Amino acid sequence: MAFAPASIGNVAVGFDMLGLALEGVGDRVKARRREKPGVTIDTVYGLDGKPHPYLSTDPNHNTASIAAKALWNDYGDGGGIEISVYKGVPLQSGMGSSAASAVAATVAVNALLGTPLPIEALLSYALAGEQYASGSLHADNVAPSLLGGMVFCPPVLWPEVVRLPVPKGGSAALIHPELQVNTAQSRRTLAKAYSMEQWLSQQGYFGGFIAACASGDIELLGKTLKDVIIEPQRASAVPCFAAVKEAAEKSGALGFSLSGSGPSMFALCESNVAARVAIAMEQACRSFGIDCQSYVSSMAAPGAHIQE
Ligand code: HSE
Repeated sequence: MAFAPASIGNVAVGFDMLGLALEGVGDRVKARRREKPGVTIDTVYGLDGKPHPYLSTDPNHNTASIAAKALWNDYGDGGGIEISVYKGVPLQSGMGSSAASAVAATVAVNALLGTPLPIEALLSYALAGEQYASGSLHADNVAPSLLGGMVFCPPVLWPEVVRLPVPKGGSAALIHPELQVNTAQSRRTLAKAYSMEQWLSQQGYFGGFIAACASGDIELLGKTLKDVIIEPQRASAVPCFAAVKEAAEKSGALGFSLSGSGPSMFALCESNVAARVAIAMEQACRSFGIDCQSYVSSMAAPGAHIQE
């Protein structure tokens, strides 16, 4: 059984090029050999442990099997593979749900190869699955889910990705409100042109944030964890966004934004205040009558791995 963690796309500063793995929440995929050639899906289980009501078990229409097939077609021995998918990441949550399925599938199938590939080599296969679900080629969920921690994966460097240092004692607190945002749809509505002023600001924040992570400069991290380009266009899809942000900042968060395309939101903070930040965010969200669940994770969360 392979486990692949949920992840925070964009990490506020790096749209489509920066991602952070989350510990303790993810998808699992079991893969086994079958005589019949090709890749098939046995069952996709939902968060409640029951067969998922609408995720497809057609191998051409499921993120996990598309990723598994891409890998098996290149390296399989001509036999067959059957996979079972156990969802742990809610759909359309902004927590990298499709990426987690795709990554777990590649890691599970890789373990069945005569000579398994190094983990970095699975990226492009997992991305094939993620692309099917999100309708675009961005690796900021797949890369951290596969490799763990914080990963820099700009499309211009693809297929090269860079694992980045994270400050010691840094944590992420994430809140998932019971809402759904379709990433493909959300991407379609983004503006296509931006001003020089926006570009300069965001570049400054991005560079400063990376420098802050590398040097462990918490103060600089707090000053730079900002998204002046994408967040303002997406925040209105989450009615409690401003209140949750204020609650996070008041309870000690260094910075706050949407996770991926939302509706999940995250704060980065020093680990000793992370639980407090998560509780404050939950309270603010619930005050809008929106149910929610929060997660706290080290910024150095492990990536995908075989569990048993
Ligand atoms: N970078 C992607 C986006 C992540 O923001 O659309 C989606 O999870």
